[in-house]
Amino acid sequence: MSEHRHMLITAGPTHERIDDVRYLANRSSGRMGIALSEAACRAGWRVTLLLGPVAADPAPGLCVERFESTADLERLLGLQFSACDVLIMAAAVADFKPKVMAKSKIKKAMLALNLELERTQDIVSEVDGNFIRVGFAAESENLLANARKKMAEKVLDLIVANDVTAPGCGFGSDTNKVTLISRDGEETDLPLMPKREVADKIWDWVIANE
Ligand code: PMT
Repeated sequence: MSEHRHMLITAGPTHERIDDVRYLANRSSGRMGIALSEAACRAGWRVTLLLGPVAADPAPGLCVERFESTADLERLLGLQFSACDVLIMAAAVADFKPKVMAKSKIKKAMLALNLELERTQDIVSEVDGNFIRVGFAAESENLLANARKKMAEKVLDLIVANDVTAPGCGFGSDTNKVTLISRDGEETDLPLMPKREVADKIWDWVIANE
């Protein structure tokens, strides 16, 4: 029964600290992931939302855990994922972080600043367990080919291909336009619609495939 099913969803950006006041981030508002959480809640699922540093307020009643960095998110997922039936990774997770965080605020007296970055852990590829994995692909070119490649590399059941350059799509908007690509190769191209309706379509796929 749905009441006993647990969905774990990540949303929002990561912040990777450079010094005491600066960080590397991205433009994710958390809206897509919050809409997915609310869709699962409406369907009677138990939902845990792992939410990055955004101002958005999820609906009351959701279990929300906050993260700041990729490392925080990885730790939270480590604690939570073995208990979930579905994992949806809508968070925009950093691929690179500063190799070292400065010990104090970097002074602007310097004429230039070179930051050395290192790769972060690819979190969704590392999680292990018997549950449905849904990932997103935020792309600015070769949308479907890049999304299919990510689905294979990250061993996902569904990837939501998201052209983040199109008007009204992707980061920060209330609407989105995505293509759902499932592990058997089936593609469903959705029109531009409110993120709440995109969430319902993804949710329909989860229900049909769990
Ligand atoms: O938050 P909004 O403003 O509503 O915007 C929504 C969105 C654009 C953030 C969302 O629709 C979206 O596309 N989220 C995924 C963004 C992203 O990080 O895409 P990616 O192609 O870089 O990563 C592919 C997948 O791997 C994602 O599921 C991501 O969560 C995961 N990943 C990425 C990097 C990393 N180190 N670990 C990961 O697990």
